[in-house]
Amino acid sequence: MAGAPPPDERPARRVWHDPGGPVVIEGPVEVVMDDGSVVRSDRPVVAVCTCRRSRILPWCDTSHRERPGPAPPSGGRERDAQ
Ligand code: FES
Repeated sequence: MAGAPPPDERPARRVWHDPGGPVVIEGPVEVVMDDGSVVRSDRPVVAVCTCRRSRILPWCDTSHRERPGPAPPSGGRERDAQ
C-alpha cells in the first residue's frame, strides 16, 4: 500500500548558517571528505567551513573573517578531525 512514509522519531539536528562564514551544526558531526575519508567532531556545536580558506578543513578556523569574498579555487589545507 502506497502512502507517506512514517514520521522519523529521531530529534531533528539543528543547522544554521553564519552569513559569510561557516555552517554551524549541533554535534557530534561526521563529514565525508572529497577523498571519501570521514572526519568526526564530538563537540556539542561544530562550525563547518564553507569558504574553503580554513587551514583545518572541514572545520572553520575563522579565516573567513580575514579576507571576505570568493574562496580561492584550491581551497585550504585539510586536517583530520579535531
Ligand atoms: S567559513 Fe570560517 S574559515 Fe571558512
